Amino acid sequence: MKTYLRMLQYVKPYLARIIIALCVMVITAGLTAASFYVIKPVIDKILANPDKAEALRYIRLLPIAVILIYALKGVFLYIQGYLINWIGNKIIWDMRNSLYRHITNLSMRFFNNQKMGVLISRITNDVTLMQGAVANVLGNLIGSVLNIIGLVSLLFYLNWFLALMAIIVFPIAVLPIIQFGKKMKAAARGTQEKMGDITAVLNESFNGIRIVKAFGMEEYERRRFNSDLQRFFDYTMRGVRASSLSSPTMETIGAIGIAAIIFVAGSAVINGTLTTGTFFAFIAAITGLYPQVKKLNDMNNVIQQALSAGERVFEILDTKPEINDLPGAKEYPEFKNSITFTDVKFAYNPGENVLKGINLEIKKGQVFAVVGPSGSGKSTTADLLARFYDPHEGEIKIDGIDIRHIKQEALRKLIGIVTQETILFNDTIKANIAYGDGEINETKVLDAAKAANAHDFIVKQPEAYETMIGDRGVRLSGGQRQRLAIARAILKNPPILILDEATSSLDSESEILVQEAINNLMKNRTTFVIAHRLSTVRNADKIVVIDGGVIKEEGKHEELLAKNGIYTKLYNMQFKLHE
Ligand SMILES: Nc1ncnc2c1ncn2[C@@H]1O[C@H](COP(=O)(O)OP(=O)(O)O)[C@@H](O)[C@H]1O
Ligand SMILES: [Mg+2]
Repeated sequence: MKTYLRMLQYVKPYLARIIIALCVMVITAGLTAASFYVIKPVIDKILANPDKAEALRYIRLLPIAVILIYALKGVFLYIQGYLINWIGNKIIWDMRNSLYRHITNLSMRFFNNQKMGVLISRITNDVTLMQGAVANVLGNLIGSVLNIIGLVSLLFYLNWFLALMAIIVFPIAVLPIIQFGKKMKAAARGTQEKMGDITAVLNESFNGIRIVKAFGMEEYERRRFNSDLQRFFDYTMRGVRASSLSSPTMETIGAIGIAAIIFVAGSAVINGTLTTGTFFAFIAAITGLYPQVKKLNDMNNVIQQALSAGERVFEILDTKPEINDLPGAKEYPEFKNSITFTDVKFAYNPGENVLKGINLEIKKGQVFAVVGPSGSGKSTTADLLARFYDPHEGEIKIDGIDIRHIKQEALRKLIGIVTQETILFNDTIKANIAYGDGEINETKVLDAAKAANAHDFIVKQPEAYETMIGDRGVRLSGGQRQRLAIARAILKNPPILILDEATSSLDSESEILVQEAINNLMKNRTTFVIAHRLSTVRNADKIVVIDGGVIKEEGKHEELLAKNGIYTKLYNMQFKLHE
C-alpha cells in the first residue's frame, strides 16, 4: 500500500488530465450500460410487440440508436485510451529521469557494490512494469469500476430482486482474486530479480568480450546466460500458472451466478412476471458484467508485478548519497597555496584500514609523486583528494579549507584526472575531448589535441575530429585513447592534476608520445603523480613511498636512493627490468 501511494505521487502533476480522463470514462461507462439496455426495447417493442404499428416505428428508430450509441462509445474510448496512455508514458518518463538523476548522484561506494546490469534493469524493465500498473489503474481499473457501477445500476433498474441475486456472487469472486494476486507478486519478484541478473551477464560479457574470446569462455558465458534464462522461465511460468488459473476460476464462479439467474428469471418469464426483453437485457448485462470483474482480477496481477518492481525502484531512490556538500559549502574557484592530508585514515570495508594515517603536504606548482607496491593505497589516496570517498578520520584541506566545505562541483573543477584506464564515450573525437566543457569550442579542442600529441593521428581518422570512436573508444589504440584523455584534461585546464599510472599500460613507443603529452599537461600545474615506473618520478619535487597504507619514506630521488630502503629496492627492481 505504501509503495502504491508512493507510485501515485508521480501521478499528481497530471491531475487535470486525469480528471478529464475520469469524466470521459464516466461517459463511456454510461454508453456501455446503454448498449446493453437497448436489447430490452428491441425485444419488447419490436420482436414481442403485439402492436404492429408501434413495432414498425421502433424498427426504424432502434437501429439508428444502436449505431449512435456505439459510435459515441468508440469516440470516447479513443479519447480515454489516448489520455490514459499519455499520462502513463509521461509518468514513466518522469520516473526514469528521477531514477537516473538519483543514481548518478550516488557515491562511488554505491557503484562498487552494485552490478551495473541490475541498475540498468531497474531503469528499463522495472520502470516499464510500473508503467503497466499506472496505465492499468487509471485506464482499466477505474474504467472497470465505473462500468461495473453502470451495469449494476442497470441490473437494479431492470429488476432489483434478480440484481441482488446476481451480485451475491461477487464476494465469492474476491477471494481467488486476492489469492492469485499473492502468487503473482511472488513470481514477479523472481522474474524481476532474474531479469536483473540477465542484464548483468549481458553487460559484463559484452563489455569484456575481448577477454571472453581470448580465454575461450564463450561456451561458459552461454551456459551462465542459459541458466539465468532457465530460472527466469521458471519464475515466469509460476506467474503464468497463477494468472491462467485465475481466469477459469473467475469464469466458473460467474457461470454459477448466470445459471441461477437463468433459472429464477426464466421461471419469472414463464409465470408472466417478467418480460422477455427484460430477461435478455438482464442476461446480456450480467455477461457484460462478469468480464469486468475478471478484468479486475487481471489488473490485480499487473499491479502486484508493479508493486514488486516499485519496491526495488524505491529502494534505490531511498539510498542516500554518501558524499554530500556540507551545509554552507562554498565555491572555490582558485587554488592558491597547498594541499594537506592530516592523519587520514580510510577503509573500504569497516575495520580494514587501507590508509592508516597519511600525512602529506603538496605545495602549489610542485610535482608530487607517490610510489609503492601494488595495492598499497596510492589510488585510494588520490580518490580521497577528488572526494570520491570521505576519510573516516583525519582531514584533507586545500588552502586550509577542509574539502568537505567546498562544493563537490567546485572541488572537481580544480582537479583533472588521467588514469590508466581511459574512459571515452561513444561520440565524436571532438566531443570526447570537450567532455565536461559545456559547449564545444573548436580552437580549444584543436589546441588541446596538439598539446596532447593527438592531432596527427586524429586528422588521419576517416572524419578527423568528427570521427565516432565506438563504444568506449574500441576503434582506437591504447596510446591514442590515452592521448585523447590527456587532451581532455588539457582542455579542462585544472590547477591540480592527478596522474594515476597514466602510462603504465602502454608500449614504449606510445609511452614516449604520451609522456610528451603529459609533460605539456603538467606545465603550470600542481601534479599528484602516481607512477609505478620510477623513470617518470625521478624529477619530482617530492616523492613519498607508501606501503600498506603508511608513508614509509619521503624525499627527493637522490635522497631516497641514499637511504637504501624500499625506494631503492623498487628502483633496482625496475632498473633490472628495463635495462
Ligand atoms: N573499491 C574497493 N573496494 C574494496 N577494496 C578496495 C577497493 N579499491 C581498492 N581496494 C583495496 O584497497 C587497497 C588499496 O588499493 P589501491 O589504493 O587501489 O592500491 P594502489 O593504487 O596502490 O595499487 C587494496 O588492498 C585494494 O584491494
Ligand atoms: Mg592504483
